[in-house]
Amino acid sequence: MAEMNLQVLLRRRPKGEPVPEDFDIVETPVPQPGPGEVLVRAHYLSLDPYMRGRMSDAKSYSAPVELGAVMEGQTAGEVVASNAPGFAPGDTVLGGFGWQRFSVVQPGRLFKIDPKEAPLSASLGVLGMPGLTAWVGLEDIGQPKAGETVVVSAASGAVGQVVGQIAKIRGCKVVGIAGGAKKCEFVTEVLGFDACIDHRGDLNAQLDRHCPQGIDVYWENVGGAVQRAVFPRMNDHGRMVMCGMIAEYNDTEVRPGPNLMATVRKRLRIQGFIVSDSGWPRYPQFRQEMLGHMASGRMAWREDVVEGLSNAPDAFIGLLKGSNFGKLVIKID
Ligand SMILES: NC(=O)c1ccc[n+]([C@@H]2O[C@H](COP(=O)([O-])OP(=O)(O)OC[C@H]3O[C@@H](n4cnc5c(N)ncnc54)[C@H](OP(=O)(O)O)[C@@H]3O)[C@@H](O)[C@H]2O)c1
Repeated sequence: MAEMNLQVLLRRRPKGEPVPEDFDIVETPVPQPGPGEVLVRAHYLSLDPYMRGRMSDAKSYSAPVELGAVMEGQTAGEVVASNAPGFAPGDTVLGGFGWQRFSVVQPGRLFKIDPKEAPLSASLGVLGMPGLTAWVGLEDIGQPKAGETVVVSAASGAVGQVVGQIAKIRGCKVVGIAGGAKKCEFVTEVLGFDACIDHRGDLNAQLDRHCPQGIDVYWENVGGAVQRAVFPRMNDHGRMVMCGMIAEYNDTEVRPGPNLMATVRKRLRIQGFIVSDSGWPRYPQFRQEMLGHMASGRMAWREDVVEGLSNAPDAFIGLLKGSNFGKLVIKID
C-alpha cells in the first residue's frame, strides 16, 4: 500500500483551554513536488506555546491558522524529492512545514543544516527558534552584565534553559522559577543556575531568600502570579524582557493591568519582542555561538520527546499546563 501523509488540522477555535476535539487528524495522499519545488519528510515537529495564539482569531502579530488548515509549526526533516537546484534527496532541512509528515515547499522556505553538528531534534530547541529567542532577547533587551541578578521564569523549558545558561556564561547570578521539585533540581544541578524557585510554593518568601539584592533582569515567560511577585523586586534601571505570558494564554477575559508607577521611579525598561522580527537573519551567528558553547560543555539541554504525530494535540494541551519537562518535540514516525 502506498505511504500516506498524516496531518493535524485545526477543526475549531478553542474557548479557554484547547481540547482534543479542536483538532482533526487525517490521512491524505503524499503531495508531489511541482517545478522548482521540494518534497520534505519531517522527522521532528516542534510544539510551542505560540501555537495557542494561532488557534485563535483574536488580533495578534501573526495571522491565525484557518479552520480546516494544517496546524502551523517548525519541523526538522529530510528532502525526499527535489525539482529545485541546491536541494537533493537526503539533505537535512529545517522549516515551518506544519503538523504533518510530508510537505511540498518552495526552496526559499528551507534551511539546510549539517546533521553531524548536533542531534536533529536540537535544531528545534537549543539550536532552534526557542534558543534563538533566548539569544536575541538577551542581546537586544536584557543585556545582562557580570554580577547582576537575572531571574528566569519557565526556567526548565525550551527558552528558559538557554536564557539562564547564557546569563551564567556572562557572569550573572541566575535564579530560575519552575513548577515542582524535579524541574527545580534539573535547573540547578544540570543547567547550573544558582538557585531555583518553585512557583507552586511561597513565591515572595523564596524571592526574598534568593534575590536579597533585588532583580536586575527579569525574563518573562509566564505572567500571572509570578510576574506580580517579581515586579516589586526590580532594581533601578532593571530590564524586563517580555517574551511571553503562558499562564494567561487560555484566558477568556483580559486581566486587569498592574500599576506601572515603579517603572518611572526605577527607570525600568519593559520591552516585548517577537523573535521572527529580527532573529532569523542572525541565525547563522547564533548557531555558531551555541555550537561553541555546546562543544565546551557550557550549554546543556533537555528535550521532552513524544512519539507519534497523532499524539501532538494531547502533548500541546499539556504544554499549556506545564506537563512537558524540557523542550517539547514530536518524533513523527
Ligand atoms: N517572543 C517570542 O518571540 C517567543 C518565542 C518563543 C517562545 N516565547 C514564549 O516563551 C515562553 C516559554 O516558551 P517555551 O517554548 O520555552 O515553553 P516551555 O517553557 O518549554 O513550556 C512551557 C512551560 O511554561 C510553564 N507554565 C505553563 N503554565 C504555567 C502557569 N500557569 N504558570 C507558570 N508557568 C507555567 C510550564 O513550566 P513549569 O512547570 O515550570 O511552570 C511549562 O512547562 C512562552 O510564553 C512562549 O510563548 C516567545
